[in-house]
Amino acid sequence: MKQTILITGASSGFGLIIANRLHENGYNVIGTSRNPKQIKVPFTMLPLDIADDNSIKGFRNELFKHISKLDVLINNAGFYLSGLAEETSIEEGKRQFETNFWGTVKLTKELLPDFRKQRSGKIITVGSIMGLLNFPSASYYGASKHALEGFFKSLRFELNEFNVKVAMVEPMGFKTNIINNALKAEIKIDDYNQYRSKIERFANDLFGNAPEPTPVIDTLVKLIETKDPKFSHPVGKGAPLILAIQHFAYKVFENSLIKNFNRFKD
Ligand SMILES: NC(=O)c1ccc[n+]([C@@H]2O[C@H](COP(=O)([O-])OP(=O)(O)OC[C@H]3O[C@@H](n4cnc5c(N)ncnc54)[C@H](OP(=O)(O)O)[C@@H]3O)[C@@H](O)[C@H]2O)c1
Repeated sequence: MKQTILITGASSGFGLIIANRLHENGYNVIGTSRNPKQIKVPFTMLPLDIADDNSIKGFRNELFKHISKLDVLINNAGFYLSGLAEETSIEEGKRQFETNFWGTVKLTKELLPDFRKQRSGKIITVGSIMGLLNFPSASYYGASKHALEGFFKSLRFELNEFNVKVAMVEPMGFKTNIINNALKAEIKIDDYNQYRSKIERFANDLFGNAPEPTPVIDTLVKLIETKDPKFSHPVGKGAPLILAIQHFAYKVFENSLIKNFNRFKD
């Protein structure tokens, strides 16, 4: 029998594409959205807001009305908060963490007893390349994704005892609705005007020319089909090389990024 897969944030972007692909491939797919009626999909869509404790609390019971066993959880829901660190309020930063980090962790924890008791399953989390390195204007987004890396690295050891596999996918920039759905820091400090404008133009160029998400979707499918996957799966053009340069020659990595930003000087 085909596996049952739960995908958070299945109304848009990576989540919607992977949910459709898996449904077409005969998997039993359950997707989630804060507003499940906003979109007509061929798989079951349940309401879930991972930034809302009440929504998470009721979710497990609702889920198991639709399924008898959960084989794979894909933690995909998340958003992007863009803003230079000094211009981003702590409240805005906390909102980023409430969804990207705490929301993902709380939902995972809610479902852990089921995975542990059944002695099988997989938890795959969509992190980001910004969880392995970071850019300006992404301090809180990058921090939330770095935090996920730390959390799931530890959980991987613990769940291995119960034959539950934990892995992450770390995409570079791909074409989804992430930029349209992004929050922007509200405060503006004049001193940063020139720098902010350069970084915004760099980011617009990066995301404006971002490729279609197929490699991310292919990686997720492969992970579902692999019995014992490794932990980390960076996806995107040149990702392994960029990560190696960052790791072994940070200055070279940094200088090449600064050179890139400076292409967008006024
Ligand atoms: N696109 C990229 O270049 C890129 C690169 C690296 C990592 N990522 C990561 O990939 C994941 C998916 O993003 P995407 O690019 O596909 O963006 P997207 O098109 O904006 O989709 C985001 C999805 O997350 C859901 N979501 C947002 N906040 C939520 C909340 N509080 N509770 C429940 N669901 C919530 C949205 O569902 P509703 O609005 O329907 O609730 C939506 O389905 C995110 O974790 C993102 O950080 C994206």
